[in-house]
Amino acid sequence: RTDPAILVPDRADIARALPKHGPGDEKYTRGVVGIATGSATYPGAAILSTWGALAGPAGLVRYAGSAREAVVQAHPSVIATDRLADAGRVQAWVVGSGLGTDDAAATAVRMVLATSLPVVLDADALNLLVDGAMADLMRGRSAPMVLTPHDREFARLAGEEPGADRVGAALRLAAHTNAVVLLKGDRTIVATPNGLTYANPTGTAALATGGTGDVLAGLLGSLLAGGLRPEVAAITAAYLHGLAGREAARHGPVTAPDVAAALRPVQAALTG
Ligand code: APR
Ligand code: MG
Repeated sequence: RTDPAILVPDRADIARALPKHGPGDEKYTRGVVGIATGSATYPGAAILSTWGALAGPAGLVRYAGSAREAVVQAHPSVIATDRLADAGRVQAWVVGSGLGTDDAAATAVRMVLATSLPVVLDADALNLLVDGAMADLMRGRSAPMVLTPHDREFARLAGEEPGADRVGAALRLAAHTNAVVLLKGDRTIVATPNGLTYANPTGTAALATGGTGDVLAGLLGSLLAGGLRPEVAAITAAYLHGLAGREAARHGPVTAPDVAAALRPVQAALTG
């Protein structure tokens, strides 16, 4: 689809969107991102999403959840607590990746939705939104939200398959949820509630490996905490994630940690 209404960013657009650092920077002014992901079953999702967040512009990454020990082991600079209520101040939340759908997971999603902060809802958070009361909580918010479904998560949430018109489907879900929708795929789509659409040109099948979605969610949260508008944060995250997948693939078969590790060098090359 080559509809001119679909915005396709280039390197200069992305470089311009990224926050600039300067001598006056301080960790709190760069933004604080809160990560409520992972579980005892999926501690890796917590490690990968915090890794994505650490590669973004935020000056501080906080983690709240049951993979606390694993996260701190992997990333000593993350400030971690078990309980979301003890997380401290953040400027944006990422919730859902590897979270599970038990009562504790539902409580975490509810607490995040109850804030007036920008939120990324990924994976199990999207599955929990199928619940009517949770969906009402989401639709009642006025702070920015980005939903990051893959096709199966999209179908469960939207009640329709993305189908052939992925842009149209993403726009309908965005309008219905009042959230920015980042529909993952080989050409990831970003759609806003007021009808803007973007397509990411950097996708690569190298990303088709477990855990890369968790990295994307963390990076996106860091960009929101850094002050980017939600749709700009979403397309910027997808763009950098694709570049990181391509960069990682130069060295052989790609794993999600390789993608996370490549996020910083690709930004250096972009803004350099
Ligand atoms: N071409 C380009 N990009 C791709 C391709 C492809 N062929 N396949 C996947 N990707 C990208 C997507 O755009 C997305 O950014 O890889 C990422 C995969 O993200 P997810 O589908 O969320 O997968 P991930 O989260 O890493 O998988 C772990 O989490 O969401 C659950 O159900 C999911 O069980 C899965 C688990
Ligand atoms: Mg996923």
